[in-house]
Amino acid sequence: MTIRNEITLASVVKNEGLAVALELKPAEVIKTVRDSGMKGRGGAGFPTGLKWEFAAREKGEKKFVICNADEGEPGTFKDRVLMSEWPDLIFEGMTLAGYAIGASEGVFYLRGEYTYLQAGLEKCLAARRKANLLGDNILGKEGFSFDIHIHMGCGAYVCGEETALIESLEGCRGEARNRPPFPVNTGLNGMPTIVNNVETFAWATAIMAKGADWFKAIGTDKSTGPKILSISGDVERPGVYEFPMGTTIDDVIEAAGGQDAKAVVIGGASGHCIPRTEFSRAISYEDVATGGSVIVFGPHRDMLDVAENFLEFFVDESCGQCTPCRIGNVKLLEGVRLLQLGECSTSYLQDLCSLGETMQCASKCGLGQSSPNAFLSIVKHFRNEILGRA
Ligand SMILES: Cc1cc2nc3c(=O)[nH]c(=O)nc-3n(C[C@H](O)[C@H](O)[C@H](O)COP(=O)(O)O)c2cc1C
Ligand code: SF4
Repeated sequence: MTIRNEITLASVVKNEGLAVALELKPAEVIKTVRDSGMKGRGGAGFPTGLKWEFAAREKGEKKFVICNADEGEPGTFKDRVLMSEWPDLIFEGMTLAGYAIGASEGVFYLRGEYTYLQAGLEKCLAARRKANLLGDNILGKEGFSFDIHIHMGCGAYVCGEETALIESLEGCRGEARNRPPFPVNTGLNGMPTIVNNVETFAWATAIMAKGADWFKAIGTDKSTGPKILSISGDVERPGVYEFPMGTTIDDVIEAAGGQDAKAVVIGGASGHCIPRTEFSRAISYEDVATGGSVIVFGPHRDMLDVAENFLEFFVDESCGQCTPCRIGNVKLLEGVRLLQLGECSTSYLQDLCSLGETMQCASKCGLGQSSPNAFLSIVKHFRNEILGRA
């Protein structure tokens, strides 16, 4: 997928971030990441430095750094591009995170559908071992040993959820755990573990190389730094773009050539539908948050078909552990199909919305909690279009 504008990562000098980090004390590395204000780029937006601090504080025979390269959210493909263009920066970020929290092992959990990327990533790891950027006493830092291995996922979307990912790494069914305890306390094999997104590790490297102030100067007060987006759908120039956090949806869509859009779904199938009247809203944690997926819908699109497509996905991908998600997604899909036939009363539509809200608060993990989002926001903004079929 084409890179459409300048990606700042291209200007980061390889291994500078790691060298800077190893000159500092682990707590100073964490402070730098905290000072940058970076929040995780995988979607949930948890402050990265704080996560690392929690893991650093924990005692454990061993600690783990996991890179979440599962990238299963429909419409997201930016991590794939980062992995093919800048794998060193990602592995470097994992290594300096290992130094910061006191971990000796890194696991790169790679989406099953990305098997074709594995050989290139292994080659990069081998070169890093040879250059003493992985292994024992990295870059001459006495006592700091860290290595990374790649673990292939098997194509389950729920395994992108960090606790299901850890279950899968332990050889169990990929099912979300109850939280607490959180992975930073009890993660892989019961040990303190940080799980971060591919993009988060790449930016951590850039922050160490260019400084916390550089990162903080980009974006908004609550959403610092640049964000890499995957833009697809009814646009002239789909692809991977970088924007400062806080950029309006209008500007994002204009850059990709989707001026006619009637709506955009931000955050993938588990994200929210934003109508044209709200395109002045900003992509940021305080307004419209996204792990990176922006899907644009032109004027000819039927938004009910969009909801149907997303719900089919969730019916397939629900792990089935909890009732609100296992049954709820099936019921929402049935409802959408009645709406498509023009056979859904307004009171039944109201019941469907109440069901969606119940799923948001009663589902066990983020999959079920977010699966009704697109349906509910489509009903909210396109009610007349939906009921107009009756
Ligand atoms: C169903 C589901 C799928 C997820 N898939 C991914 C994914 O593919 N990649 C990712 O980084 N985070 C994914 N997450 C979020 C992770 O659970 C976790 O918050 C993230 O990896 C933390 O990294 P960050 O703090 O750097 O964003 C998913 C969450 C849920 C609920
Ligand atoms: S919300 Fe869905 S995916 Fe998550 S535990 Fe429940 S059934 Fe499984």
